[in-house]
This record gives sequence, C-alpha cells and structure tokens, in this order.
Amino acid sequence: MGAMRTELNFANLSDIKTELIAVMAVDAQTDKGPNAKPEPTLLTSDEAVFAATSAVLASGEFKAAANETLLLHSPAGLLAKRLLLVGLGPKAKATVHSVRNAAGTAVRFAKPRGIRELTMALPEFTIQPYNACARAAVEGAFIGDLDPDTYRSDRQDRSIQSFQLAAPSAVDQDSVRDQFNEGVIIGESQNFARSLVNEPGNKLTPTVLGQRAGQMAEQLGLKCAIFSTDKLRDLKMGAFLSVAQGSAEPPALIVLRYEPAGVTDGPVLGLVGKGITFDTGGISIKPADNMEKMKYDMAGGAAMIGAMRAIALLKPRVRVIGIVCAAENMPDGKAQKPGDIQTAMPLTPDKPGKTIEIINTDAEGRLVLADGITYARQLGATHIIDAATLTGACVVALGMINAGVFSNDDAAYERFNDGLAVSGEKFWRLPVGDEYAEMIKSDIGDIKNTGGRWGGAITAAEFLRVFAEDTPWLHLDIAGMAWVEEAKPYIAKGPSGIAVRSVLEWVRSFESHR
Ligand code: BES
Ligand code: MN
Ligand code: ZN
Repeated sequence: MGAMRTELNFANLSDIKTELIAVMAVDAQTDKGPNAKPEPTLLTSDEAVFAATSAVLASGEFKAAANETLLLHSPAGLLAKRLLLVGLGPKAKATVHSVRNAAGTAVRFAKPRGIRELTMALPEFTIQPYNACARAAVEGAFIGDLDPDTYRSDRQDRSIQSFQLAAPSAVDQDSVRDQFNEGVIIGESQNFARSLVNEPGNKLTPTVLGQRAGQMAEQLGLKCAIFSTDKLRDLKMGAFLSVAQGSAEPPALIVLRYEPAGVTDGPVLGLVGKGITFDTGGISIKPADNMEKMKYDMAGGAAMIGAMRAIALLKPRVRVIGIVCAAENMPDGKAQKPGDIQTAMPLTPDKPGKTIEIINTDAEGRLVLADGITYARQLGATHIIDAATLTGACVVALGMINAGVFSNDDAAYERFNDGLAVSGEKFWRLPVGDEYAEMIKSDIGDIKNTGGRWGGAITAAEFLRVFAEDTPWLHLDIAGMAWVEEAKPYIAKGPSGIAVRSVLEWVRSFESHR
C-alpha cells in the first residue's frame, strides 16, 4: 500500500505552495430548458481563485459536470503551480458523496501526470456539513490513489505522496479535524481490503489471507486466532470442510476479536465474511470465460477484515467478532460431488447439525457461511452481518449499481440503511421468508444448497437465514459490486472495497455511551 501522507490546514488557498490545488465547482443553473447554459460556480470565497478562473469560466469550456476537470497552469495570484477545477454536477444534486468522488477524481488526474502532491480545497457554501465533507474528501483521495498494477515489472509508483485538505478557517476546526482523521483510517482500511482482493489466487491462499489478517490484528491490538482443518473437524464444520476438501490448500478460519475495555454487556456483533480465495465451481465447474475473476470471491471476507481494522483504530464502544471462512473451491479426486450429503456445524455439541444435499458444488459460499454464522452465534454474537460475493443472480437483479441486502430483522436493517447516508454505498433490500424456504427443501436431507432457476439471490440468502435462526441477521450480496468493471474518474478498474464503510457504520450504530 502506498503511504499517502495527509494533512489538514486552514490556510488561504492563494497562500498555499503546492504542485496542484483542486477547487470544486457546481452547476448552479436551475433552468432545465433546451437553451439553458451551465452556470459553473466555484465553491470557494478566495478572490484570487476567482480572478484566475474568470476567463475560463466565462468561456463555457468547463460546465462543472460531475467529475469533469479543467487544468490551469501558473494561475495568477496563487502560489500553487497548477489549479484544477473539478465539477460536482448540478448544485441541487451535489452531496458529500459527490465530494468523495471529486477528491478521487483530482487524485486520479494527478497520478498519470507524475504530480505527487496536491491540495484540495474543502468546498464552501453548498455542501454541508463541513466535517462530513472533510471525511469524505480524504476517503475519496485514498480510494483514488490505489492502482491494481502490483505485478507489472514496468510499474512506476505514481502514488500520491502528500494529500492536503485546505478548510476555510471559519469552520468548527475541531470537528473538521476529527472527521478528517476518521477519513484517513477509513480510507486506508478500505484500501487494505482492496489490496487483499486484488491478489491472485496463487499469491493469496486461505493461509496467506489468515497471515495478512493476523499481522494487521497484531499491529492494532485485536485478538486473533487462525484455525485450519483440525479445528474445523473439532467444531464439526461439515459444510465449510466440504468446500475445502477438494483443494490441496488447507482452509483458514480467521477469528478477530475487538473487546473495548470496560464494555462487558450489551450487544456482541458478529461480522462474517466469505473468503473463497478462488472459486472454480468445483466439480460443477465454471466455464473458462471470466473464471480468472473468481480470485475476488473473498471480497466479503476482505471487507470484514478491512472493517475490523477500522474498528480497531476508531474504537467504538461495542464488542465485535470478525469471522472469515477462507477456502479454495477446486475440483479434485477428493472434491465433494453433487448429490453428496453434508452435515453443518451444530449450534451446541449435543444437538445434531442440519443436513445439506449438495446440488451444485458451485454454490459453495453459502456452505462456508452457514458454519461461519453458526460459529458466530456459538461465540455469543447477538447480531450478525455477513458479506459475500454470493450469487450471479444478485448481479442479474440489481446490476452493478446496487448491492443486495437481506435481513430477518427490520430494526437491524434500519440501522444499516441509516448508515448508508454516511457511507455513500448503495444497497437495495430484497426479501427473505418462509415461502422461499420451500424452494430449498431437500427430499433426502434438511435443505439443498440451490433453489433452482428463479430468485437465485433470494434462495441463497434464505439458505443463510436457516442458520441465523432467531439471531437478528443481515446478509450483503456484493457479487456485482466488489469489482469495478470499468474505470471511473475516481476509482481504478479492479477491487472496489465495497461494504467496509457500511459495515463500519452499522457497527457504530450499536455503540453504547457512558
Ligand atoms: N462466487 C460465485 C458468485 C459470483 C458470480 C460472484 C459472479 C461474483 C460474480 C458463487 O460461488 C457462485 O458460483 N454462485 C452460483 C450459484 C448457483 C450455482 C446456484 C451462481 O451465482 O451462479
Ligand atoms: Mn461458486
Ligand atoms: Zn463463490
């Protein structure tokens, strides 16, 4: 991970000596008629910036569309070498989330040009509140800074060395600084998750994923245990083991615990992630086209590891257990077969585990998660959230705009949904319920691991609900959103790091205040 230095200051824009200063603008035109011209309006009160840009703004060359950029060299009256205008789009639609993207756009403008230092002006006037914008801007800068070309031998490290945010001095400086610092932690944590997702299957095996999580935990003081086959057998995790048995790589059960001092009662949150480091489909093997993408089938697990990193640093007053079920799904002489019966982990050793008829070995995510959810409950989780690249059907349903969210508990869902206003991530709720449970009944055992052609994202969620039982539970299907298929001005093509920010906000909603 490139170590981008960050700094917050309250200086006048014209006094800042830097390679590039980025200033945001909105389109203030409210007339939507055919002859209405854009009215690009700078979100600064700095007179020198106005003077330096008046000619180009009058020219109509810059319309302040979302993530549109325009560069000026040697702006008169400024100490900065370059001035970059970045559009936020129509004034009425500009939000903190536009600011996050615009910061990423400024960083991604600088990078290919070899500019390694920049200052962004925190937008004045319309985008409120300032502290939320400060957090979003830093997050966006980190997100924009990451490129996935790790293994190119001609790779030139163009990561930004120094990102500065210049806030107007009249703001509440303490709360802006507070949110700025949070933005650093959250942006770095999201990038940590993305860098894990970016690793190919041969470099990041379940064991290596466990080591990476373990190193992070040790550095930040999280309790951590990494288990493998023996422990899975002890716990009778028959569903998880059935996926791992076809691979030469041993599975990893990653358990991270955050226990804030003095918090001994109240909720215990279980964060459960799917960590399939490569998904071939197993014996129900996937077609070759695009199979290389299945290295990102551990994105849910990576998101939970990233969220645990942010939690360790932000220290919310609530206990959290992170569980990642990591395995490789491979075809092999020892691999499980369609028709096999597996016995999932029992909640308590005296009870029998549920029996699962394997219809399709490519529906492996729900198998590892079933045991992960049961384990979280056994460890005392009172509320559970899972994240997984679970189904292609979710991508068919929601496209690559929204991820899916499912829940057996409206209150837990409402907390999550409220957090989206802060995280800026897009999730759309889909149903679960007893009517759907009919679709995964097995003739030979308790349930089967696929529900047929229709409602595939829902029957997958329904499968998980069987294991959550009466524990309030949320399931995030991020299959379509974990990988950015087409580069955007503010994010590279590759891993997105989705769910880190939303899971974090959900966790923080449970914080107890003394
Ligand atoms: N990892 C895949 C889901 C996936 C698809 C993730 C596309 C990212 C992009 C999952 O393990 C899988 O193979 N699901 C099957 C389930 C089916 C066999 C019931 C699917 O969606 O086709
Ligand atoms: Mn699969
Ligand atoms: Zn999978």
